[in-house]
Amino acid sequence: MPVGAGREIGVGQSQQRGSGTEAFLLQMHKRPGELDESFVEIARRFPANRQPEILQYFVGLEVKLPVEAIEPREVTRVLPLPGERGGEGNNLRGLGTHAAESSGSPARDNTHQNPAAPSFAVTFPCPVARLRAMQRPSRQSSIVARSGRFASGPAAEVAAFSESISFDWRLWRQDIAGSLAHATMLQKIGILTAAELKSIQTGFAEIATEIEAGKFRWKPELEDVHMNLEAELTHRVPAGARLHTGRSRNDQVALDIRLWLRDETTALQTDLRTLQRSLLKLGAANATVVIPGYTHLQRAQPVYLAHHLLAYVEMLDRDHGRLADAAARANVCPLGAGALAGSTLPLDRELVAKLLGFVDAKGRPQVTQNSMDAVSDRDFAVEFCATAALLAVHLSRLAEDVILWASSEFNFIRIADAYTTGSSLMPQKKNPDVAELTRGKSARVIGNLMSLLTLLKGLPMTYNRDLQEDKERLFDTADTVRACVRLMAAMLAHTTVNAPACAAAASDPLLLATDLADYLVRRGMAFREAHHVVGAVVALAEGLGKPLDQLSLVELQAVNPAFAPDAADIFNLGKAMARRAITGAPGTKEVQRQLAKWRKLLR
Ligand code: ARG
Repeated sequence: MPVGAGREIGVGQSQQRGSGTEAFLLQMHKRPGELDESFVEIARRFPANRQPEILQYFVGLEVKLPVEAIEPREVTRVLPLPGERGGEGNNLRGLGTHAAESSGSPARDNTHQNPAAPSFAVTFPCPVARLRAMQRPSRQSSIVARSGRFASGPAAEVAAFSESISFDWRLWRQDIAGSLAHATMLQKIGILTAAELKSIQTGFAEIATEIEAGKFRWKPELEDVHMNLEAELTHRVPAGARLHTGRSRNDQVALDIRLWLRDETTALQTDLRTLQRSLLKLGAANATVVIPGYTHLQRAQPVYLAHHLLAYVEMLDRDHGRLADAAARANVCPLGAGALAGSTLPLDRELVAKLLGFVDAKGRPQVTQNSMDAVSDRDFAVEFCATAALLAVHLSRLAEDVILWASSEFNFIRIADAYTTGSSLMPQKKNPDVAELTRGKSARVIGNLMSLLTLLKGLPMTYNRDLQEDKERLFDTADTVRACVRLMAAMLAHTTVNAPACAAAASDPLLLATDLADYLVRRGMAFREAHHVVGAVVALAEGLGKPLDQLSLVELQAVNPAFAPDAADIFNLGKAMARRAITGAPGTKEVQRQLAKWRKLLR
């Protein structure tokens, strides 16, 4: 339906004028002060005496899409609306007047409360289709997803309230993939001819190319990605009108999210591996560095830095596994569930599932087994968000360690300048913002999980529009955790270890007090007694103002005669690290073994 150049687009009180090729834009929604700079810029390209009108026009045009979509050269003329008193221009008001008039009136549609509000028209020499992409019609939007029983479209406020295209457009690849599989199946069961299927495939290929190139115009009045794509396909290809056979947006959106999550999960798993490699590399490059291990943030026992870093590699590995578990449960095709009750048509659900890769390890198609569950289930979204929330908590803990280590008090690591920021006031500051933001962003990821759970908890069967609220939480979760994982990986790759500072901290002999108790155990003492004895030794050293390892044998034996000359050997850090030989301990051999294992696994 491309419209020839020079069509007039009215701006005013009338709703729809003539054929569907003409649309009326709405009245002032915004005050002049709220105008986007770009509108003002566009208005400046008009002769000075027309600028207030053009600006006024943009005041009324509620544009959701990027303002760059409007080519200023396409706005050629401003006209009075037919039937307006006074003719061109004389019912227009200055911006200031309008601001005064409209203040206090409702944000939208104030024409009807305020008959004096200005109205006028402009001529767009561009196809209406393009214009539609930019506009939001006034009192009522065009009729969307409505059967013959509706006399009108939804009110503009309702359309704006209920649209999801502003965020669900990003499901377009999944939506097209789902539609193509569905169409292939419809052809197989005789609902589409081979030629119709071909035309649908070609139509979607063109649309996909345009979306990729950023040339596709998403239309808010078409509500969501499903309607936008189907409407555009049908506009290009008559067979598009048959595509929705046996399908509802309810099973369609459930499908799209599952497909989208599948890709995001794989991508997140890849990102996780990169972060694990960063941790491993930092540990392996500093394999001989020992630091104090902490409990209660108090120095406890010595550990290799690599052991500490590998603790996070383990955590992230569980996250990786949880993602895989969740993905396996999400790997079930809901298409065919229809709105809630399947279809009376002989849809081949297994074929669709196979085409979309919803298969088990043996290649057998996986389809949902209850149509009501299929359209109301968002467990896969919750599972992803729960897994992501735990991952975010892990990242936050890692971030906290990094922040501590980068402080002057610890001084264990240095983060490269590119991954730190300065202070606007204190010239000496170098702040670990990547780590701090990662810690901070865990809050929203946890919040998203709570939102989803709360969203679902009161819903009766089956699909309810509430479910549209799942997507932003889900998208935000995936975007946030993926960014955190990537940034933490990059930051760690640009972090160096301050080995002397670590060695100084690890040389604290108190870290080996437990080793001294183990020494007494090896000499036959019960651990509880040994624990008590070493406590008394520590108190004695404190009383004498000596480091623990500087007590003489006589002093040790004054506490307990079980000490022998070899007790001094306990404080040799190298030997102490070698003694920690059991699986999972931070001992020299064991940490080497763990590093080698992870090097192999993360290759
Ligand atoms: N945009 C909707 C959503 O995200 C798609 C499903 C709409 N279904 C409906 N019956 N209105 O949930």
